Amino acid sequence: MRAGRVAVDGARVRDAALRLADGAAVVLDGVAVVERGPRYFMLHKPAGCVCATSDGVHPTVLELVPEAERDGLHVVGRLDLDVTGLVLLTDDGEWSHRVTAPRRKCPKTYLAELAEPLAEAAAASLRAGVRLRGEERETRPAAVETVGDRQGRYHQVKRMVAAVGNRVLTLHRERVGPVDLDPSLAPGAWRSLTAEEVAGLAACGPPAVPSEGTSQGPS
Ligand code: URA
Repeated sequence: MRAGRVAVDGARVRDAALRLADGAAVVLDGVAVVERGPRYFMLHKPAGCVCATSDGVHPTVLELVPEAERDGLHVVGRLDLDVTGLVLLTDDGEWSHRVTAPRRKCPKTYLAELAEPLAEAAAASLRAGVRLRGEERETRPAAVETVGDRQGRYHQVKRMVAAVGNRVLTLHRERVGPVDLDPSLAPGAWRSLTAEEVAGLAACGPPAVPSEGTSQGPS
């Protein structure tokens, strides 16, 4: 500023203490400086990408976003390397905390292919909550729906399925809170979240607890 490189609303300014009015047009070296608001994206994660900002071995989900958009983004709730589906990205730390804070219990819906048909007793255990090795408490009740011969739908997944004596072969996240993975997004593709989706995720609360033994839709 002291070098006279900055202009505000067409007038050169040299005072670094200047308070900008809302909507002030700031120009540095003749180029408009545009304040970028917070950014929110959904991405269709393909298998083989890691949910990290950098990784020495595998490509990251951030590398699927053009470089110009990548700066400052982080992943909101990771998926494992082999898991596909809905991943959220943002540069708004407060928002991502709201979406992921365990106490808010924002539900996630997964489509899983299992090694074995899901036994009714196993589904009942998942609905009731299972104790995972190394954990002090049971998992929260999961809504489980069998949608084919060998598939189930639930959250906190691979370990829960292992805890009831089965094995996840493939896992795909379809939904977080009120937001579905956009079916028009091919694996690796992304889009901005709508204002409604951003607000819906920020307000996301716990799912209705399924009653024992009742088949539930996605939570
Ligand atoms: N549950 C898992 O086991 N893996 C994921 O990536 C997400 C949920």
